[in-house]
Amino acid sequence: MQTKTRLSQETSTTLNITGYDFFKSCLVEYGKCDLFKDTEEWLLEDNPYRRTLRPHIFHHLDFSKPLTRNNLLTYNSLTANRTLLTVYESNFVFMPKHDFALKRQDFEKFYDPKLLTLGNIIRPWLERYIFSFLDTEISVTGNWNTAAVEEYFQEYIETVKNTENSQVMETIEGSKDPVHAAKTFLIQLAGDFLVESSAMSRNILGNYGSLQSELFKVVIDEYGYGVHQTKHSKLFEETLESVGLESTPHTYWQFYLTSSLMLNNYFNYICNDHSHFFRYLGAIFYAETTFIKFCELTAKTMRKIFGSTINNRYFTEHVHIDHHHSRMVLEKLIKPAISTYGEGIIPDIVRGFEEAKLISEIADQDFIDQVHWADNGLNYKALALPVYAKIQEGKINPKMQQFIEPRGELSVTHVHDGDELCYIESGVMKFVTGDDRYTILNAGEGTVIQHNRLHGAIIESEECVYNIYSIGDYQKCLS
Ligand SMILES: [Fe+2]
Ligand SMILES: [Fe+2]
Ligand SMILES: [Fe+2]
Repeated sequence: MQTKTRLSQETSTTLNITGYDFFKSCLVEYGKCDLFKDTEEWLLEDNPYRRTLRPHIFHHLDFSKPLTRNNLLTYNSLTANRTLLTVYESNFVFMPKHDFALKRQDFEKFYDPKLLTLGNIIRPWLERYIFSFLDTEISVTGNWNTAAVEEYFQEYIETVKNTENSQVMETIEGSKDPVHAAKTFLIQLAGDFLVESSAMSRNILGNYGSLQSELFKVVIDEYGYGVHQTKHSKLFEETLESVGLESTPHTYWQFYLTSSLMLNNYFNYICNDHSHFFRYLGAIFYAETTFIKFCELTAKTMRKIFGSTINNRYFTEHVHIDHHHSRMVLEKLIKPAISTYGEGIIPDIVRGFEEAKLISEIADQDFIDQVHWADNGLNYKALALPVYAKIQEGKINPKMQQFIEPRGELSVTHVHDGDELCYIESGVMKFVTGDDRYTILNAGEGTVIQHNRLHGAIIESEECVYNIYSIGDYQKCLS
């Protein structure tokens, strides 16, 4: 009798798998996998399983309220995006190029069922956290029918055709270090291009008639018809190698900007959750169409900067093939989908198009801001002393944390939500704003750290004592 009572009590307790507390404890547990811990290196070559997530601070972070348009590039967002991409990619096959035996343990840990289960639990919460802002930012209204959507997309094709320049390319060419800016750009693309079309391939499983076969044709192109030398990800490997960059996936994990991760995650999000299939059709139309001009302009800029050393085949191939893909998506996927499933799917298609467009624009601006940030390293260094003087004079009184670190201690790249002042009491710090881009800070020097800008640091002396002041807005401090 007693046993029966206990059993019925147990079964009546509902397991709250959608609650925040459960998500949070699974996230902390996920972060315990040693593949994700801090590293002492900036680059991680040929080991796609290790991706630093700075998990030791997971338990301090609050993911309970979704991001908004105004806080998309915060520390929490960077963490959520790094983690979500890791979760998505745990169902892609990754193999190192060399020394598998040495990396076998990492391989097994990355695909461990417990880690995969935790990943699946935290995924929907992270998706909501990152992408809910799209619901408020984009509203698809009005009476859409097939003719209207076709007209709208034809107009976009014309807009792309008539585009003659790109702010991103102008920023790269106008940078104080165009080679670095161009490489930083290629690094942003590498997160997605080295696994190109893996996200979309999630849509080729199942059974949905002739649309499925039409989509498969696009995928076949992306995979170079099974000829490895022409697979698009392979073409991009050659582009990277031609300018002296590593071509193994996620070597530059620490140098992906928040928005680059977000854009990559967005396509995984709508391809992984098949209730978003119609959104995906709009998003892929945006991607294939935009890519025609994007690749043309990128190839031009890369040629200008690297001369004939760069292997631009990736870009030139896309100028050609994406003319076809854009048309195939509109004629063979979108229009037939509407006639099969009804005009009720149009708002989803338009939403996907607008969402992909908005996130791409956010990523462009984030990249432009990061180039300016890295270019102005010495200016931000020069600003440190006037801000420090204000603190010394007691004119401002910001919160301060002191750190004492030994030689070689590496602070994994991150961002801050407000401006900070880093001031070196003793020793030497290499303050890093990009791959192989840094400012040396000696005792009595420092730098202003602009909010949302990616940076890291490494100690270059036996010991370094430095203070971090949370100054909020450096311009206000100086006014
Ligand atoms: Fe492609
Ligand atoms: Fe394509
Ligand atoms: Fe920092």
